[in-house]
Amino acid sequence: MNNTGSEGNKMEKTMERAGNFLPRVDESAGSPNAVDNRVVSLTAPASIAAEQYRSLYYRLERMRELRPLKVVGITSAMPGEGKTVTTVNLALAAARANPERRILLIDADLRRGQVAQVLGIRGRPGLSELLSGECEVRELVRRFHATRMAVITAGGTPEEPTQALASARMKQFLKLVRDHFDEIYVDLPPTLPFADASILGHQTDGLLMVVRAHHSQAKTVTQAMEQLGGAPVLGCVLNGAEMSAAPYLKEYSSNKK
Ligand SMILES: Nc1ncnc2c1ncn2[C@@H]1O[C@H](COP(=O)(O)OP(=O)(O)OP(=O)(O)O)[C@@H](O)[C@H]1O
Ligand SMILES: [Mg+2]
Repeated sequence: MNNTGSEGNKMEKTMERAGNFLPRVDESAGSPNAVDNRVVSLTAPASIAAEQYRSLYYRLERMRELRPLKVVGITSAMPGEGKTVTTVNLALAAARANPERRILLIDADLRRGQVAQVLGIRGRPGLSELLSGECEVRELVRRFHATRMAVITAGGTPEEPTQALASARMKQFLKLVRDHFDEIYVDLPPTLPFADASILGHQTDGLLMVVRAHHSQAKTVTQAMEQLGGAPVLGCVLNGAEMSAAPYLKEYSSNKK
């Protein structure tokens, strides 16, 4: 988070203390195939970074004991703060933790969806084609190889992404997938530039707000929370934290890669 004032610093420190942070992941982690190296839940499941995604997942599991949390949306105030990397790793952590559950990852960022690219899979047809009536749901759902996770990519960019996401067809689609999956993780667009995240946020059971370490400004995060206007925000996740922020992990990482 960009510490323009002590507010940002305070917020960042509070999240670190609470354990709601995901470390910075090196590009050199080593990938077995076309999957992006930052998908550590798959490429480096024994790493400290993958452990943090598991830990985030188990926090959600604890919340699930108190309330239903089937559809979880992931957003951030601004572009490029780590929504996609967080969503993909979280969904994979879920698939590994509970192989008996049906896990679905949806890329609902119709403007610049990156899930297909990050996972190294075909992008079309995707949600966009479904919403424009060009295909059926069953043509969209792809099982991601070697995992129990199913994926729906974003597809092409429609002319009016907000309108497409606000449509009755989108509501029907979410209703349908709710009936067929146990846990659904939705990669949303950033909150401040567009109405998309706010519209979809209200159709989720909970939202995670990704905050980028040394980058996000406390002011924009606060504005994003306001923009979400009553959508069920579960909390913030600090993304890209330095290991030095958590000395206990750093010490541990010398034994475990
Ligand atoms: N924990 C991390 N460690 C290192 N790099 C990261 C981390 N999280 C994200 N990145 C990198 O930062 C960039 C932005 O991440 P990502 O695509 O997940 O953000 P986003 O919020 O989905 O962006 P957009 O708003 O464009 O959809 C990518 O290059 C990604 O690989
Ligand atoms: Mg993204």
